[in-house]
This record gives sequence, structure tokens and C-alpha cells, in this order.
Amino acid sequence: METIYLDNASTTFPKPPEVTRAVVDYMTNSGANVNRGCYAAAYSVEEHLLETRQLICELFHGPDCRNVIFTKNVTESLNLLLKGYLHPGDHVLVSSMEHNAVMRPLVQMGVAFTRIPCDETGALCLDAMEECLKPNTRAVVMTHASNVCGTVMPLRRAGAFCRAHNLKFFADCAQTAGVLDIDMQAMKLDAVAFTGHKGLLGPQGTGGLVLSGEMARTLPPFLAGGTGSVSHTEQMPAFLPDKFEPGTPNLPGLMGLRAGLLFLQKTGLAAVRQHEMALTERFLRGLAPLEAAGAVRILGRHDTQNRTGVVSIQTPGRDEALTAAALEEHYGILTRVGLHCAPAAHKTLGSYPAGSIRFSFGWFNTPQQIDAALAALQEVCHGPETT
Ligand code: ALA
Repeated sequence: METIYLDNASTTFPKPPEVTRAVVDYMTNSGANVNRGCYAAAYSVEEHLLETRQLICELFHGPDCRNVIFTKNVTESLNLLLKGYLHPGDHVLVSSMEHNAVMRPLVQMGVAFTRIPCDETGALCLDAMEECLKPNTRAVVMTHASNVCGTVMPLRRAGAFCRAHNLKFFADCAQTAGVLDIDMQAMKLDAVAFTGHKGLLGPQGTGGLVLSGEMARTLPPFLAGGTGSVSHTEQMPAFLPDKFEPGTPNLPGLMGLRAGLLFLQKTGLAAVRQHEMALTERFLRGLAPLEAAGAVRILGRHDTQNRTGVVSIQTPGRDEALTAAALEEHYGILTRVGLHCAPAAHKTLGSYPAGSIRFSFGWFNTPQQIDAALAALQEVCHGPETT
């Protein structure tokens, strides 16, 4: 039985072969640290890392490649950002579709928040933003696209709102980096949190933050330690990116991320997007009769406008976890079932607390795999509830 991987919103798989080769090549033939050695292999790692920053900066229209800070994932990026910028007593706006990577740091810090309502498709009610404001509102923190149903948030318009109201604007681009255009300047973003292991096709344990000039200057370092620079002082350097990057980074991962970014540059974001939307359209078209028969309920949008290649369904009258388990056991189809670390999104979509079965498509999926998933769902939904 062929394994059909439809869990790309969690992490993309497979990776382009050049990503694996870059990791193995670094581990086999170099292994040198960055900013620490005065020999050719170390200089070569520095050049590769600089190129990775440049590729990220270009991709997100960042202000300067030194404002690209590497972390291990979006979660770490958001913790660095939110814990540096916000304090108890502050208030922020979030969408009602946020992931726990945004919500848990806010709750942990005791920062007050108001959820900007989203409709039953997950679309942001932009007109409601104004009335959510309070005198102590300091920022808007928002996912670029829902990890549950794929609905894309209107970042350009939300950014214009933030600029008009003198608020900082931070985007969680976990689901969109490498898939959608992200333009920090046009979207008036003060910070973009990204991960390397999803749309950017790199290894797990890579990610980062791109900061505006002002944020980079004013945000305090999250960690302190050796940077390989200004070693005569026990103070953290104030210059970028060293200010935010003490300790040896995940160099094998970042070498892989560089290869993922080069692969994307060669392939083109438009081609990736077109492929993923064609698969999504095929899947939604195939789900329509199942929904009409009451066997499934599609969460969020039913079309390919304003969305990513993430489709969640419920199976009314059937346990979603058993359905997902049957898809794996009998058809080799891998999905993610449950609440997807986003209880607020499920509450917005009317799928809380049961959750959903999430299918998420990537560059390496094929139309044949979509058809196989549809045929499997058809059989499972009409068979007895068992695995
Ligand atoms: N946040 C990732 C997901 O949605 C891990 O699966």
C-alpha cells in the first residue's frame, strides 16, 4: 500500500532531494561552526548563512537581511517577539482563528486581548476592528492563514488599519511562507514569524523572525550568550543579527533551509500556489456529493478563493478520530485529526470540541493521490464505524 502524505500543514513531506543532500553534505564534509572559526570551512558556512538570510529577506520584502533572526520555529519567534514587546497591562487584538503559538504566550504573560471576530468561513470581520480597540491596545497579532481551514486573512487591509491607529502589526506566517506572497512593506508589518519546515521545504528546527528597523532596535534579546563577536565584553551585542542569536544555531537545518529556499526560487511561488490550488479544487469538488449526502461537513470556505491548500472536514455521526485511523490503516492516508492546536479557530468554525480531520496538500502531492483520498473517504463514510 502506497503511503499518501496529506499532512503538509503540520510539516511538509517529502522534502526536495537537494534539501536532504545539503544537510548530509554539511554533516559529512564541513561540520564547521559559524562566526567562530578562522578557516575556510567556517567562512563558507558564514556565506551560506548570509545567503539564507538574503533569500528570506527578499521573499518577505524585509528591510535588511540583518533583520532576519533565526530561531527554531514560529513558536520561538512569537515568544521572542511578544515577550519582548508586550507587558502585563497591555492589550492586543488577535483574530478569532489564532493558533496556540499566539494565544499561549499572551495568556502566560497576562496580556489582555480581544478577539476580532471572524465569520463561519474563518474570514476576518475587518469592520469590527475599530470597536475592539482600547486605550492600552499596542499591537495586532494575526495568523496569515488558518491552519485549520486555510482561510487567508486580509493582511494588507489589517496593516493599513494598524498604521492608521499607531499599532504594531505582527503576522504568524507558519502556513503561508513559501506559498503566498508576503510583503512586509505593502502589508505594513513590523514583524513576520516564519517556520522553515513547512512551505519553505526545509528541515524541522528551523524558523525565524523578520523585524522592521524599529522593532530590531527596540526589542530586547530573548536569550543571552556567546555570539562569536565582541568577545571582550560580557554584554550582549546591540548589532544585528547577533543581538538575537547567541549560541550555536541549527547549522545542518539551516543548510537544508537554504536548499529549500533555492528550490522554491527555481520553482516559483506562483507554480507552487497554482499546483496546490488545483489539488484543493479537485478535492473540494469530490467532497461536494459527500457533503450533499450528509456524510461530511466541510469547514470554512468551499471554494479556492482566499485560501491555502488546507481542507478540514467533520464526519457527522462518526467519530473523526476513528475515521482518520481507518484512512491510515486501510488506505495509507495520513491526515491530522483533532483541534490542531487552535481551539479558538474550531470555536469560530463551529467544530469545537469534536475537531476535524484535516487534509493538507503540498508541492509533491498528485491529483491521483487526491482521487485516492476521495475514494477512501467515500468507502469509509459508507462502511461500518470501525478500524
Ligand atoms: N501548527 C502545525 C499544524 O497545524 C503543527 O499542524
